[in-house]
Amino acid sequence: MLAAPILTFPDARLRQVAAEITQKQGLEKLRDCLIATMQSGVGGVGIAAPQIGQLVRMVVVDCRGARHPCAHHGLLCMVNPRIVTASGHKLGREGCLSVPDLVATVSRNKNISVCYQDVVLNTYQIESSGFEARVMQHEIDHLQGVLLIDRVTNVRDIVRRMAQHTA
Ligand code: NI
Repeated sequence: MLAAPILTFPDARLRQVAAEITQKQGLEKLRDCLIATMQSGVGGVGIAAPQIGQLVRMVVVDCRGARHPCAHHGLLCMVNPRIVTASGHKLGREGCLSVPDLVATVSRNKNISVCYQDVVLNTYQIESSGFEARVMQHEIDHLQGVLLIDRVTNVRDIVRRMAQHTA
């Protein structure tokens, strides 16, 4: 499966609310394309369908190769993911394939419980915490048209990026 081009900020499609998925048709193909695209990006631990211009609620998360080892569920494709419960807060550094050159400090919930479906629309609920929970929250944000830049807690991160882009 070939990787798809990744949309980058300020592409308007990244700001759309993605549609709920109600049919299985084409889901395996979209999943495989998302995986290939995520793996083509440097340090990609997750990607959401809107990042390749597919405005539907699917994300892929894979923390097996995270820079700092963390508890994880392996390679996960989540259809219609929804955070059911969330607790705790933690600051951490994040990047995004759609916002190149920005690494920023973002506050996320430490522990989450997520309900989602697989590509044949079976429903699951899992608990996640730490870095994997952070990645899931980041990817689910994409489904609402929310980007890393909206969550930045440290203005210096943005100033640093602007400096890079005007240099
Ligand atoms: Ni992202």
